[in-house]
Amino acid sequence: MGYAGGVFSTADPNERKYRKYSDRILVKRLASYMIRYRRSLVLVFSSLIFTAAVGDVGPYLLGISVNDMYARNLLAVISSLAIYFALYTVNYATDNRRTYHMQLLGQNVIRDIRRDGFAKLQELSPSYYSKRETGRIMSYITNDVDALSDFVTFQIPQVLAGIAVIVSVIPIMLFLNPSLTLVSLSVVPALVILTLAFQGRIQTSFVETRRKIALVTSKLQEGISGVRVTQSLVNEERVNEDFDSANAENLQANLRANKLTSLFNSLVQVIEACGIALVIWYGTTRIMSGDLSVGLLVSFLFYMNAFFNPIIQLTTFYNSYQSAVTGLDRILQVIDTPVEVRAPEERMAKKIYSSKAASTEFQNVTFGYEPNLPVLNNLSLRVNPNEVVAIVGPTGAGKSSIVNLILRFYDPQEGSVLFDGVDIRELEFAEFRKRLSVVSQDPFLFLSTIMENIRYGTEDATDEEVVSISKKIGLDDFMKWLPMGYNTIVNESATNLSMGQKQMICFARALLREPELLILDEATSGLDPVSEVKLQSALQEMLKDRTAIVIAHRLSTIRLADRIIVLENGRIVEEGSFDELMALRDGIFSKMYLMQYKIS
Ligand SMILES: Nc1ncnc2c1ncn2[C@@H]1O[C@H](COP(=O)(O)OP(=O)(O)OP(=O)(O)O)[C@@H](O)[C@H]1O
Ligand SMILES: [Mg+2]
Repeated sequence: MGYAGGVFSTADPNERKYRKYSDRILVKRLASYMIRYRRSLVLVFSSLIFTAAVGDVGPYLLGISVNDMYARNLLAVISSLAIYFALYTVNYATDNRRTYHMQLLGQNVIRDIRRDGFAKLQELSPSYYSKRETGRIMSYITNDVDALSDFVTFQIPQVLAGIAVIVSVIPIMLFLNPSLTLVSLSVVPALVILTLAFQGRIQTSFVETRRKIALVTSKLQEGISGVRVTQSLVNEERVNEDFDSANAENLQANLRANKLTSLFNSLVQVIEACGIALVIWYGTTRIMSGDLSVGLLVSFLFYMNAFFNPIIQLTTFYNSYQSAVTGLDRILQVIDTPVEVRAPEERMAKKIYSSKAASTEFQNVTFGYEPNLPVLNNLSLRVNPNEVVAIVGPTGAGKSSIVNLILRFYDPQEGSVLFDGVDIRELEFAEFRKRLSVVSQDPFLFLSTIMENIRYGTEDATDEEVVSISKKIGLDDFMKWLPMGYNTIVNESATNLSMGQKQMICFARALLREPELLILDEATSGLDPVSEVKLQSALQEMLKDRTAIVIAHRLSTIRLADRIIVLENGRIVEEGSFDELMALRDGIFSKMYLMQYKIS
């Protein structure tokens, strides 16, 4: 969750006011998703051709039967009408199949786009998330993809049917009566001008609606995850006002887009009415002068209807198109986001040779989350195999940042991080990350049972192994207090567990993997002294053939370490064993230790 864009402001600097991609690219990308479903596409297209043919023949049959009525040829009238009904009945059946296949196609395309978006989100490094609000990202994958639904499943086949009708009807009309055809088509230039005039405004109005619904989702997400803080500080009114204003902005944006499109639709209908009036006027004068049959005028009026229906449809199509490509544009921006931290190409990737306990080394590392604000300054640090190194230092010194670099959530601006002597940028992610385990500062549990949470990432571990590791670290003692023991479901944000329990579960998860390098970032801060002592003695045993980095504020934890590093402002200011550091007269560590000792 980005606090910068949170309760206090509504601007997201990463969000574009205009589309990023051109129409051509968007259509191409959408087509590349649709083409995967060839069977449905073929069925849809063949049924469209049939529908167009029915649209061509139908009005002609009606015209003939009118003329036959005039000629009092009842048998001919009945047979024309019978063919007419038969055609439309078959058409109705193919229409049904078409709708089904369009739904199938559309829903598949939406699923594929969502899957690509989600997969990208799993790949992006934490820096992507620290610059964006969770709610907005969720809106890309939900609302923006939804905007495609109406377009793909309904509008595209409608408009393709329309185009097929228009393309096939014009030659027939020209064949039946060229001059009447030209009169019918005389209003087309007006339609083109109108569309061009409205295009830009409708486009931006749709981008605005997508931005506003993203804002609403983002406020909703923040409102829900922050509800405890809000209630405890009695700030509900402020949060409600904030949500109301986002909600109202969304309303306004939608009204504006609808106003524009309905104005556009009305103008198109006015133009159509003018066209029909022209045809009737011209047609009746021709009938009176004897050049035209009533039946042909009737056919023409139906043809005009067949011709204008898709054109009116085109305007809703256009609106739906705008809404869809705007959504697609936003989701493609996610799918196309370059991954900042990339794994090396497979053939270039280097191997890790040690089978147990590898060294970890920082060589002159300079790193900042913002390139010009370094958090770690020219840091060099080596953790030998089987060594336990503790890192201490004030809040904000850069301790967790060291962990972020080892995990390769970020890459340093200068220098390099080596694992088993190899730059981690040259190692395959899986090859390397599966050798580490981190218990991080804020324990995260998934919506699942405690058992599954411990097993997360080590899926082949048996229940017995999970229980055995839990016994070792003292987690098992708590299980009898939980309603279902290991099968207790962890709530969202693990609100049904205490902080210490959460940390212990994460601990068990980390140890179950039997990592070569174990990293503990304030992993025991939530435990009571008794539990902590128990956990530490378990740790001491487990760390025997392992390398570990232990970050702790509580200096008692640090006694486990072979070596202690004191970090300040991203620099190592002291280094040595516990006794060595305590022996330093004016040492920072000895002062910190004495101060804690005094307090306790
Ligand atoms: N995602 C981030 N984006 C930008 N700056 C960050 C980010 N994470 C941390 N920082 C900054 O980096 C600096 C070091 O943070 P870090 O989390 O490494 O401190 P720490 O030593 O772990 O502190 P603590 O003991 O409180 O956990 C801080 O000044 C912090 O503001
Ligand atoms: Mg930290």
